[in-house]
Amino acid sequence: VIFESSQEASLLVAREIANLIQRKNELNEPCVLGLATGSSPIKVYEELVRMHKEEGLSFANVVTFNLDEYYPMDKNDMQSYYHFMHEHLFHHVDIPSENINIPDGQVSAEELQQYCIDYEMKIISYGGLDFQLLGIGRTGHIGFNEPGSHVNSGTRSITLDHVTRVDAASTFLGIDNVPRKAITMGIGTVRNAKRIVLLGWGISKAGIIKKTIEGEVSSQVPATYLQEHNNTTFVLDTEASSEL
Ligand code: GLP
Repeated sequence: VIFESSQEASLLVAREIANLIQRKNELNEPCVLGLATGSSPIKVYEELVRMHKEEGLSFANVVTFNLDEYYPMDKNDMQSYYHFMHEHLFHHVDIPSENINIPDGQVSAEELQQYCIDYEMKIISYGGLDFQLLGIGRTGHIGFNEPGSHVNSGTRSITLDHVTRVDAASTFLGIDNVPRKAITMGIGTVRNAKRIVLLGWGISKAGIIKKTIEGEVSSQVPATYLQEHNNTTFVLDTEASSEL
């Protein structure tokens, strides 16, 4: 779906999420959301906060699982995804803190593998993700599933691609400060979501959006695996869709 502006598109995506939260509230079931970081979802979160404040949208029954976190990463660090999510969403809504799940960038190297398995199992214990929000990296990564990621991969640690570290360099005040690793949900984890919405804004995403939507399905562009998911929408602005 192509919109003239990312603002207009973000309002509609936020409305879809709000409707899902309300439907689940009426059923008295938890609403299990997979959430993303980066600049792409910021306006969606802004709008959800507005709906909470002005329309009384309650997050009391919402359970969230974030896609990824740098590793190692102190959660109090300004660059952590933990910090990002609290700043843009969690501090401003009534979600119980025990309902928030973000991969822990401080887990020890010895515990890391088991930690990732437990994160995956916790998602499964809720019956999987009702909705997964995604951005896309220039390498075609979703979460931090870099080229080479297996279609059935689960939550695990991963080595970041050089391009991804270059893109993160400004936030970290230089590439040397960007962590070399991350914890990420897998392609399999994401593809098990009942509904997926990928956001793509701006001219810098036009090339990778073309490959993702029109290219051959391949582990070299992990986002192409979404072509095979039966309930995914790519929500784009005019610039991001300009090469389609
Ligand atoms: C990071 C995140 C991704 C995100 C991507 C794009 O790599 N791990 O989940 O989609 O950045 O970020 P942006 O939305 O700022 O373009």
